[in-house]
Amino acid sequence: MKKLIKEAAQLLYDSEMTLALTGAGISVESGIPDFRSAQGLWSKYDPNEYATITAFRADPEKVWAMLKDMGDLVDQAEPNKAHVGMGELEHLGLLHTIVTQNVDNLHQKGGAKSVIEYHGNSSTLTCLSCGEKYRAEDKRKEHPPLCKCGRILKPDVVFFGESIPTEALNRSFQLAATAQVLIVAGTSATVSPANMIPNIAKENGANIIEINIEKTQLTDHVIDIFLQGSAGEIIENLVSEIKNLISVS
Ligand code: APR
Ligand code: ZN
Repeated sequence: MKKLIKEAAQLLYDSEMTLALTGAGISVESGIPDFRSAQGLWSKYDPNEYATITAFRADPEKVWAMLKDMGDLVDQAEPNKAHVGMGELEHLGLLHTIVTQNVDNLHQKGGAKSVIEYHGNSSTLTCLSCGEKYRAEDKRKEHPPLCKCGRILKPDVVFFGESIPTEALNRSFQLAATAQVLIVAGTSATVSPANMIPNIAKENGANIIEINIEKTQLTDHVIDIFLQGSAGEIIENLVSEIKNLISVS
């Protein structure tokens, strides 16, 4: 693994433009379960019943049971070594932008400034009836949170059946088409269109580094360097290796 970390660090150090794609796995070490691992959220809640816009419109109160579960974990969560390490890479000028599928705001709390949120962010709520917007923290005590018009509010996250914000989609594809290195960390790469980013980057000649505790459907197809292990530890090692390269240059 040490040799692979060195190779990946050199790629990142030499890259003129590095993009990252992250998923729920990068926040597991902050106490937020991912979705498809054995203890993942979908082992507790059927996504067809809790994660589609149809399910939310049909029974918002039921969906808010799952959202509250997740929300409590997100509220207590702190950025872990993976979020902080990626924030450092951005600060060193070695990571241009993070495209994240997560809605927990932990990349921003970990210091990253250029973050494209594919699935929105759970820190704001919107009324589907009158369009009124609220900050989630102002509605913490209400379960489920209500709009002043009386309707149950929806978090500004993208449910299955909703589209990815157009600006997020376009910008991420543009960046993927020009990236020299793509880091794919903590995602099973099973959900489109986020899982198209590695192929776009590959087709444009990028080197792809995957960080995951296990292989994914990408590993044997588009990945150049597979760093198997926990994102926090691996990213921490990568950053210290890169700092060695900077110090001897
Ligand atoms: N370090 C690195 N990788 C990890 C860790 C860890 N500590 N823990 C879990 N993983 C990996 C798992 O092996 C898995 O490949 O993270 C990945 C998480 O995959 P998913 O649970 O499918 O999450 P994600 O890829 O983000 O899902 C995409 O699906 O349900 C929707 O909207 C939801 O944004 C989510 C999207
Ligand atoms: Zn309203």
